[in-house]
Amino acid sequence: MSAPRQLFVTTALPYANGKFHIGHIMEYIQADIWVRHQRMQGSQVHFVCADDAHGAPIMIAAEKAGKTPQQFVAEIAAGRKEYLDGFHIAFDNWHSTDGPENHELAQAIYRDLKAAGLISTRTIEQFFDPEKNMFLPDRFIKGECPNCHAKDQYGDNCEVCSKVYSPTDLINPYSALSGAKPVLKSSDHFFFKLSDPRCLDFLKQWTANGAVQTEVLNKISEWLVPDETGKTALGDWDISRDAPYFGIEIPDAPGKYFYVWLDAPVGYLASLKNYLGKIGVDYDQFITDPKTEQYHFIGKDIITFHTLFWPAMLHFSGRKVPNNVFVHGFLTVNNGEKMSKSRGTGLDPLKYLSLGMNPEWLRYYLAAKLNGRNEDIDFNPDDFMARVNSDLIGKYVNIASRAVKFVPGGKLVAAPSLADVDAAGLAASVKTLYESRDYARALREIMAVADVVNGAFDTAAPWKLTKEGKGDEAAAVGSWCLEMFKLLTACLKPVLPALAAQAEAFLQCAPLGWTAAAPPLGAGHTVGKYEHLMQRVDAKQLDALFEAPAAPEPEKLVPGGEELAPTITIDDFTKIDLRIAKIVNCEAVDGSTKLLRLTLDVGEGRMRNVFSGIASAYKPEDLVGKLTVMVANLAPRKMKFGVSEGMVLAASHGDEKAHPGIYVLEPTAGAQPGMRVR
Ligand code: MSP
Ligand code: ZN
Repeated sequence: MSAPRQLFVTTALPYANGKFHIGHIMEYIQADIWVRHQRMQGSQVHFVCADDAHGAPIMIAAEKAGKTPQQFVAEIAAGRKEYLDGFHIAFDNWHSTDGPENHELAQAIYRDLKAAGLISTRTIEQFFDPEKNMFLPDRFIKGECPNCHAKDQYGDNCEVCSKVYSPTDLINPYSALSGAKPVLKSSDHFFFKLSDPRCLDFLKQWTANGAVQTEVLNKISEWLVPDETGKTALGDWDISRDAPYFGIEIPDAPGKYFYVWLDAPVGYLASLKNYLGKIGVDYDQFITDPKTEQYHFIGKDIITFHTLFWPAMLHFSGRKVPNNVFVHGFLTVNNGEKMSKSRGTGLDPLKYLSLGMNPEWLRYYLAAKLNGRNEDIDFNPDDFMARVNSDLIGKYVNIASRAVKFVPGGKLVAAPSLADVDAAGLAASVKTLYESRDYARALREIMAVADVVNGAFDTAAPWKLTKEGKGDEAAAVGSWCLEMFKLLTACLKPVLPALAAQAEAFLQCAPLGWTAAAPPLGAGHTVGKYEHLMQRVDAKQLDALFEAPAAPEPEKLVPGGEELAPTITIDDFTKIDLRIAKIVNCEAVDGSTKLLRLTLDVGEGRMRNVFSGIASAYKPEDLVGKLTVMVANLAPRKMKFGVSEGMVLAASHGDEKAHPGIYVLEPTAGAQPGMRVR
């Protein structure tokens, strides 16, 4: 027997700006199955995760929500447990990249990289928001696409024509935060010198030594393989951001912070360190122990960070590198759109749970689709129902309920094999398949054996044997089937931990590990009373799961911030005599900041004197000579500054404070003073 393995396993650290979506849950289930398999073979595993707390988007989202980034992130963190417990995802620790361990470790790694001569500084020019007083990340700059001239496009690429460009190429750029016109400003940035030949040499060797899947190696080789001119694409990596930034300060560089992707993977170590502190294990000893194996489960969108930048950071800071990075594809729902990072569409994990759907159905279904390669998978409701009801329940669960009826008192009898099942062979093969994360094939092999067992049971027809008075033979059939049920339970245990625990309770056996999977319980062993182990999926649940939430009442729009006045008749309207008026003169009113005095010609051969509350919007000279519309039959009104003989028409918003602005009406060209407006 080889010594137990010592493993450090993580999933990617989710951004702390939103709840989990089903893509996150899939990643955690994939890793959790692997970890449970490891524990079944006696490996010691530390399985940790954390919130990825830093970066500009989170800082900005917090500000919008009127919270400090720390408060904002803490609230997101508080919601994590419900999902993890709900889907039996058994992380040993959940931490945050804003924790003290991460500050300390990120700064230590940086200092070591600097000492290795791999940090440089360079001045770069970037867009700066003069109102917000901050440099703008590309996603926060918008403007007109230089290619197709679509308006309101982001600073990195156009969503209309897909053109990729840099923010400085945008026409009429503006800050998405303040609307201000950004200015170019230069600033010193810190770089991790990945273009250093040492880095290239190391990464070529690390990636070639089986630390990544073949399909992943193909993807990243574009960075590592030189072109005709002998140059590789691996450039220096900008690892600093200027204040204000929610992140970790760069040592000896006031106002400079690590770019979030620098400290995010360090969060793996920070969460481990935090956890080992809690259980009283020395972090430094564990992480430097050559026996310690380090694995990261991640999605295909963050490959470069994990297979280039992160191993290089670790290696050149004198630390151990990951043994492997396991990359999975994306999960889609109903062949739908790829879930957006922030939105997550289709299948809401909490809704799934709240409908009373069994979390292990999802675990089983996803496991049946995951093969350990970087391939996308789809959640299809019909397929989901078929696999769970026909395979999981119809084949596996049913064996126990069918068999136990023929075993009096649950006492197993000597059970000659009814079919050619190689118990040890199945357990060994399935174990290897879990190890290589080919869960799909593991489940196929398990279900094939379940088919064999059910077939043998049908052929032996114990119900007939009982009728024929051959109860002993029926008990042998039942006993063999229960032995097989135990074998299958062990094989399914990484995927179905709760069901396996129930089955172990029924079988009255110790928790099953890999070594206990194949050996029979044996004649004389007594199993408990059978209670139904698992409900079937009901199509109604799936309908409810994908039912669109009731459309919200269309919000009643209040035009211009003001409800429409009650309906009037045309007669009511014709009572108002509106006329085109020429503004012959206009002047400020002494003693009033609101009013302008207008002298109006309405074609009557005399001038009218009208006061109007538009001084905030117009200078007198702006209006002189213009045409406008007035109410000409309004009763004259005596005011503090004189008599007003009518009223000039102007537009304004109902909520003047929020939407200031007054706009005097002006007819189109050709109208003459005195014309009636109707
Ligand atoms: N915060 C970074 C990771 C930092 S790791 C040091 C991040 N966060 S994320 O929340 O956007 O994504 C977390 C993980 O979820 C990533 O591995 C990502 O690939 C995975 N997934 C996001 N959407 C997914 C699917 N639709 N399907 C499967 N996994 C998906 O990236
Ligand atoms: Zn465009």
